[in-house]
Amino acid sequence: MPYSISAQQTGGPEVLIPHEINIAEPSDDEVLIQHTAIGLNFIDTYHRTGLYPVETKPFTPGLEAAGIIKKTGRNVSRFKEGDRIGYCAGPIGAYATHRNIAADKIIALPDNITGEIAAASMLKGMTAEYLIRRTYEVQPGQTVLFHAISGGVGAIACQWLKHIGATIIGTAGSTEKAEMAKNNGCDHVIRYDQDDFVEAVQDITHGTGVPVVYDSVGKDTFEGSINCLSPRGMMVSFGNASGPVPAIEPLLLTQKGSLYITRPSLMAYTATYEEYAASAAALFDVIASGAVKIHIGQTYALKDAAKAHADLEARKTSGSSLLMP
Ligand SMILES: NC(=O)c1ccc[n+]([C@@H]2O[C@H](COP(=O)([O-])OP(=O)(O)OC[C@H]3O[C@@H](n4cnc5c(N)ncnc54)[C@H](OP(=O)(O)O)[C@@H]3O)[C@@H](O)[C@H]2O)c1
Repeated sequence: MPYSISAQQTGGPEVLIPHEINIAEPSDDEVLIQHTAIGLNFIDTYHRTGLYPVETKPFTPGLEAAGIIKKTGRNVSRFKEGDRIGYCAGPIGAYATHRNIAADKIIALPDNITGEIAAASMLKGMTAEYLIRRTYEVQPGQTVLFHAISGGVGAIACQWLKHIGATIIGTAGSTEKAEMAKNNGCDHVIRYDQDDFVEAVQDITHGTGVPVVYDSVGKDTFEGSINCLSPRGMMVSFGNASGPVPAIEPLLLTQKGSLYITRPSLMAYTATYEEYAASAAALFDVIASGAVKIHIGQTYALKDAAKAHADLEARKTSGSSLLMP
């Protein structure tokens, strides 16, 4: 029986409950997808808690999945029944065995990309793509700091940065994650749960700091990250895993050496279908070439989404996590 994981209201992981659903006909511009794998992302927890407000309640979280097209709406010409597709775009609703979604939100999967790899990589890998190639275009030989280097986005970004030829300083919260980072090509791994990462970065860079910091941890690391930047460096604050970053005074940026700060989102960097498809193609290329391997660290049954959220928030996961319908 088709079902979704939906929440009547925002709250802890326990609000995520399976509910049977009726499958509606796709509208003219939509396709009906039977999901084969669904991606778990930290943003799903922000929707669940209400940190990022959702428009309606009850709501079904999830922005990333892969599957097979079962039906197409009247106006859909780019896709047909039976096509294998993936997506990482709103609106939320991916935590379901089936869903209707607009055809301009989906990407045809190349033969060498399985549904599981697509669902484990599209949102995280396309985020890595825009962060290191477009928000701040990392050059070969540059040294960068990337926090949570063995998380979902981090593990992909680490390998991609290595492929570009950067020197990577990464932070990790456990022995296993530090080991994984080394295996992914991270040059300097800092155990930021034990050591002062600002001192470590200053030691590694002989006091010069780094030209860019990618910080998705947020509240706990933001201030330290600013102190790791060289003059005119770029602070890329792209997440809130430990909580949202408090307001800052622009004067701080002057005092720390004419810094730049940006708070980007994947949605803004994939706003047109051309950008969305180009980002996916770049990701699928680095996966196909072997430069980036997708590490699926955990797989949960879709009905156990609450457990998956609890593990993600407790820092128990590494690499990507899948929910299997
Ligand atoms: N702006 C965008 O476009 C965009 C897109 C995708 C993701 N993101 C952000 O990127 C980050 C990574 O997303 P993801 O889905 O790949 O998650 P993830 O990295 O797999 O999980 C988050 C990681 O953050 C670290 N962390 C540090 N302090 C934490 C705390 N207090 N609570 C929980 N985790 C903590 C943990 O790694 P350690 O144990 O190693 O510290 C944890 O595994 C999230 O902040 C997400 O919101 C932003």
